[in-house]
Amino acid sequence: MSIEIPEGLTELLQSFTVEVLRNQPGDLLEFSLQYFTKLKESQSRGGSPFGNEHNSAAAFRAARAVIFAEEPMQTDSENGEEDDEDVEEFVAPVINRFTRRASVCAEAFNPDDEEEDTEPRVIHPKSDEQRNRLQEACKDILIFKSLDPEQMSQVLDAMFEKIVEAGEHVIDQDDDGDNFYVIERGTYDIYVKLDAISRCVGSYDNRGSFGELALMYNTPRAATIIATSTGALWGLDRLTFRRIIVKNNAKKKRMYESFIETLPLLKSLEASERMKVVDVIGSKTYKDGERIIAQGDLADCFYIVESGEVRITMKRGKIKEDGDGAVEIARCTRGQYFGELALVTNKPRAASAYAVGNVKCLVMDVQAFERLLGPCMEIMKRNIVNYEEQLVALFGSNMDITDSSA
Ligand code: CMP
Ligand code: CMP
Repeated sequence: MSIEIPEGLTELLQSFTVEVLRNQPGDLLEFSLQYFTKLKESQSRGGSPFGNEHNSAAAFRAARAVIFAEEPMQTDSENGEEDDEDVEEFVAPVINRFTRRASVCAEAFNPDDEEEDTEPRVIHPKSDEQRNRLQEACKDILIFKSLDPEQMSQVLDAMFEKIVEAGEHVIDQDDDGDNFYVIERGTYDIYVKLDAISRCVGSYDNRGSFGELALMYNTPRAATIIATSTGALWGLDRLTFRRIIVKNNAKKKRMYESFIETLPLLKSLEASERMKVVDVIGSKTYKDGERIIAQGDLADCFYIVESGEVRITMKRGKIKEDGDGAVEIARCTRGQYFGELALVTNKPRAASAYAVGNVKCLVMDVQAFERLLGPCMEIMKRNIVNYEEQLVALFGSNMDITDSSA
């Protein structure tokens, strides 16, 4: 007797089984109910409920083993050897249709899970001109700083251009996170709603990035971002962000955890808050004599010295000055910080900073500084009082260090 297998049954069971294997649900029946309900809903939109386009080859093989009692074959990549042949490439925009939905089961992602490397890669083809603009926009993005060249190239491949109009909400607070954005141009306001009152807590001016928090921590969007001019953004989809950036952050945590724990400035933070600092910092290196900060510039970063020495200099009107018209007022070494003053006072940089020998700094952008370092403000303010005393001792008169125009 021959039994006819209905068309689509194999694919249906395979996709379902892959999702079960990926999510390992506690309540299989409940998960199945949700899965098939979403499948039915998404059928009319022509998609799959959990973005099955992204299921790894390994998960498919495991699913076949469950359904057809096949031996799950090991590939070279599962044996720890890189096998690029095994990595499917496909061209977006197909992938973006379900990235918002992917948050439903994103908790199952383990950033240390090497198997995720076999996921199909997102590629948005770009012209040379677009790629050059993209590279320029990304060169100072802190969370990209510790990626290796191969990871960075995958990130650039996956990014897509998005033009925005003045007044457009790029992100709405409490939504699911779909993309991370790097600013190419345009100005954007940041609104945070607290007790139903929304207030503007900052802005981006033609540089920087936003939208990383919901993707890193699987949380709803923490702020609303509204374009205040026409602008252009580069988006990075959630899955690529998690596959590359979140995974790399696990490595960053291992690298910086003990250093961050020793910093007196961060003593008032909870351990979990200190780890959030690690998630958003980038490491930058400077050669001997290189200027890190220029007195009088607008400020958008805060620095902690990881290695080497930093010379702080200041130009003050009529006093006797060294060659470039500035006097040395301080030195910072490992564990010390600088560049906080302009962020705290909202004024231009009060002094310049130069590398003495090779220097490595951990760098944080102003938005993360304001969001994460509130509890450290007391310590910083006490030091700012010390700066004033130090300047009086050096220059002999009372000076307003927040006024760098003198
Ligand atoms: P995300 O929560 O994914 O979406 C909103 C983004 O706004 C958030 O990530 C941050 O990148 C950015 N942002 C900037 N300033 C703040 C702030 N003070 N609180 C929360 N998010 C902020
Ligand atoms: P900021 O003004 O942002 O940039 C220059 C930095 O030099 C400043 O923050 C301080 O972190 C640092 N600095 C060290 N000593 C002094 C000082 N006496 N006066 C002002 N800035 C100082």
